[in-house]
Amino acid sequence: MLIAKTKEGKELCLSPMLANRHGLVTGSTGSGKTVTLRRMVEQFSRLGVPTFIPDVKGELSGLATANPVMFFDLYGELGHPIRTTVSNLGDLLLSRLLDLNKVQTGIVTLLFKVCNDNKHTQVRNLSQLKMMLKYLADNAFDFKMEYGNITYSSVGAIQREVLGLQSQGVDQFFNKPIFDVQHLFQVDQQDRGVINILQADTIIKSPKLYITFLLWLLSELYERLPEVGDLDKPKFVFFFDEAHLLFKDCPKILLNKIEEIIRLIRSKAVGIYFVSQSALDIPDSVLGQLGNRIQHALRAFTPKDRRAVRSISETFRENPSFRTDRAILELKTGEALVSFLNDEGDPSIVERAKVIMPESQLKPLDHSQIRQVVVNSNLYGIYETEEYVNQEETININDHKKGGESNRMMEQFGRGMVRSMGGRMGSIVMRGLFNSFSKGTRGGLGK
Ligand SMILES: Nc1ncnc2c1ncn2[C@@H]1O[C@H](COP(=O)(O)OP(=O)(O)OP(=O)(O)O)[C@@H](O)[C@H]1O
Ligand SMILES: [Mg+2]
Repeated sequence: MLIAKTKEGKELCLSPMLANRHGLVTGSTGSGKTVTLRRMVEQFSRLGVPTFIPDVKGELSGLATANPVMFFDLYGELGHPIRTTVSNLGDLLLSRLLDLNKVQTGIVTLLFKVCNDNKHTQVRNLSQLKMMLKYLADNAFDFKMEYGNITYSSVGAIQREVLGLQSQGVDQFFNKPIFDVQHLFQVDQQDRGVINILQADTIIKSPKLYITFLLWLLSELYERLPEVGDLDKPKFVFFFDEAHLLFKDCPKILLNKIEEIIRLIRSKAVGIYFVSQSALDIPDSVLGQLGNRIQHALRAFTPKDRRAVRSISETFRENPSFRTDRAILELKTGEALVSFLNDEGDPSIVERAKVIMPESQLKPLDHSQIRQVVVNSNLYGIYETEEYVNQEETININDHKKGGESNRMMEQFGRGMVRSMGGRMGSIVMRGLFNSFSKGTRGGLGK
């Protein structure tokens, strides 16, 4: 996969076989990172490898002029909506999204455990989450023996964070149908991999939502894909732009999880490419796993900046014909220091090269052109429809009526508790379907 060429005409190619050993694209603002990403996704597409790339500046839609492209948008405006449920997000990501401390995170974990012990209980959206929290607090005494202490003040603090999230318009992300990551694995009639672009210029303004969403998507990929070992090319490549946001103030427990996913997803034939300004934004434990490197120019104004450049240059295998630390400062726009993994799987000697321009137009499409692509896509209608949501609700209700839910609960809880859980959970599940009764239901729950 030809990515860049040196002045002497040496071609620097990323080996498809080693593309699942992950990578990193770095450089200061305007140094050429985005153009490099475009070159990479196009080359993967030619190979038949679908990719996912967030578009944090609304500048990538031009890729559709020469490639098969799908647009996704959490808000459903300029792409297919992507949704999931609170339950599907999981307690760790939810706690990260809500910026919870340890004690509060413990309560969220407990909430998920209570739901998990009652197999049918899915917390779909933020309103249901608030109800569940209230339920936990109101029945704290009953839960104490089996699950531990739940204080009103901690629950109150979580409730405030949930409210804050709702005021940012995050509600629409939490709904069914849950996005099926299989829909990211498409090739067109010419066997070119589809480039899946996430419209991220709005969500990047809520960095926690952005990070949570990308991590959720990664974890879905991870969970859904089977182990396949090393293949001749990856099955999928995931680009993680603005990666510094991921690691900034990242709780240890989440960081461990991220490291684990990065380490293990390789054998599921998925490559992850982080994009950030500086390699120092990435923790060593992760950096050590990013085999393919493209370093664009860095600027160094202060002694601290120069030290940073030196320490970054030490992460490359030196080329005797130039000094890495000087080159980083001298690189022109579109030029980069490149080190891909060689056939032995070791980092190759660093080369100074110019990244080859992508084939598609750099200028973004206008909104009506993007909408045209969305409407013409084979996914159109799957996530856009509200009926689908209602069908899902019906399934839940029927299950509930059959008594499956309460039977399962019976096994886990004492009789008294079962009755109160069953009643309340049933209301939570039904609320969506019986929209016209929702006022009454909510009133009942609020008592
Ligand atoms: N390989 C290249 N060949 C020719 N021109 C390039 C190349 N890379 C970048 N450029 C030019 O430089 C401009 C800025 O590049 P790009 O948008 O990729 O920078 P960036 O590092 O992504 O910046 P930012 O950090 O602000 O997002 C491009 O619009 C293009 O005109
Ligand atoms: Mg950019």
